[in-house]
This record gives sequence, structure tokens and C-alpha cells, in this order.
Amino acid sequence: MKHPLDTDVLGEFLVSARSLAEYRAIFDLTDADLVGRRILDCPGGAASFTSEASDLGARVIATDPIYSRSAERLRSLAVSETDRGSDWATAHYDRYRWDWYGGPEQHRAIRHAAAKLFAADLTAHPERYIAAELPTLPFRDNSFDLVFSSHLLFTYADRLDANFHLASLLELARVSAGEVRLYPLVDHIGRHHDVLVEHLRKELRDLGIHSALRETEYEFHHGAHTMLILHGD
Ligand SMILES: C[S@@+](CC[C@H](N)C(=O)[O-])C[C@H]1O[C@@H](n2cnc3c(N)ncnc32)[C@H](O)[C@@H]1O
Repeated sequence: MKHPLDTDVLGEFLVSARSLAEYRAIFDLTDADLVGRRILDCPGGAASFTSEASDLGARVIATDPIYSRSAERLRSLAVSETDRGSDWATAHYDRYRWDWYGGPEQHRAIRHAAAKLFAADLTAHPERYIAAELPTLPFRDNSFDLVFSSHLLFTYADRLDANFHLASLLELARVSAGEVRLYPLVDHIGRHHDVLVEHLRKELRDLGIHSALRETEYEFHHGAHTMLILHGD
């Protein structure tokens, strides 16, 4: 019998809860990249990156349209979405490399721990979580030293078109005085979007924004071991 999640239809944008350890691996981060730096996480989702990196001494703002909801709704959403995400990954076991996590149960445990930290930080530091929606962010030019964008662009290329991607990349570059790092360059089914990536890099280059592709140590979807970096001035 087919598993109920054994389909390519994920539904609504997943509100996932990645940990600082995952962000470190995904974006190749050291403490020096974080401590004392102004950082934007867009979209923040229910990730604990903001909470954990702030504890290290980073000055982090997370932004996501879901932050317009009440803290109570967000806390329960973080838990239910973590289960939806883990169920999805488990149902599509063969699409992923599990070695970084150890297996589906460890993956679920890491994400639940991150969702818990997110929920606590939301109460303790609501000012870190700003409701906003790409491709328009409520920040001045060059407000951040580093901008991270994980699991929105390319991940949802099934519903976000090339114009949305370009406008969003330009907006992320506008608010960053340094680098913008994006991951992954595959969608939620694991399809690679090399043509879209190269189209966007050319459009950006024509507008004076240089980019590079860099290998990451992290690979969850098979072959998703590359991040896109936009360089500041
Ligand atoms: C898969 S989560 C990624 C969260 C986090 N970066 C992580 O890796 O755990 C995708 C997030 O994108 C958010 N989102 C959807 N549309 C958006 C938009 N136009 N601008 C910014 N965030 C958006 C969703 O609300 C959701 O929380």
C-alpha cells in the first residue's frame, strides 16, 4: 500500500526548524563568521539558528511571513510542521543521504530540539523575529554583514518563478553589505535547477552582482552539495 506522503505534492511551504549545527554545515560557518556580525536569516521559519547564533554573540534577525502570527500559534506550528517535514523525509527515504543525521529518528530529534529552542526564543526575544515577505524586506541597504537563505528559493521552484527568484536575490543582496549565501539549489523533490541558477547568475552579473558556486560539506538531497554565494561590493 502507498504511504500517504508517498507523492510529490508537499502542499503548503513547509515551516522547517533547522539547528545551528545544520546551518554551520550548510553554509560552511565558523564562529568567526558569526560572533559580532549582523546577520539576516531569511526565511527564518522555525529554525533555532537565530537563538543559538545569538547565544554565541551574533546579532541575528530572522524574517518570515509567518511571524505575523501569534507566538502561541507559532509555537504549535513549529511542532506540527516539524512532524510534517520529518514524515515527508522519512516517506521519501531513498531521496536523501542520511549520514549527516544518522537516520530518520535522529533527524526528527534534531528538528524537534530546534523547534523547541525557536519557541523559547520567540518568547524571550520577540524583537529578533520580523514578519516580512520576499521579494520586499523592511530593511535599509547594507543592514547586514551576512545574509542566509535556506530552503525557500529553488526549493519551491515549482511555484516560485524566475522573476520571483531574481527579485528576491536582488533584495537579499540590497540588504547585505557582505555575502548572501543560499542553499540548496535543488527543489523539495530533489530536482536540480542548473538552468535557472545560470539564468539568475547571468541576470545578476548584468546588474553588477557577482556570484559563485561553492561546495558544501552538507548533502541531504542526493547531489545537493552546492551553495550559491552573492558577493557584496
Ligand atoms: C522550509 S522553511 C525554511 C526555514 C529555515 N530557513 C530552515 O532552513 O529551517 C521555508 C520558509 O519560507 C517561508 N516563506 C514562504 N514564502 C516566503 C516569502 N515570500 N518570503 C520569505 N519567506 C517565505 C515559509 O513561511 C517557511 O517558513
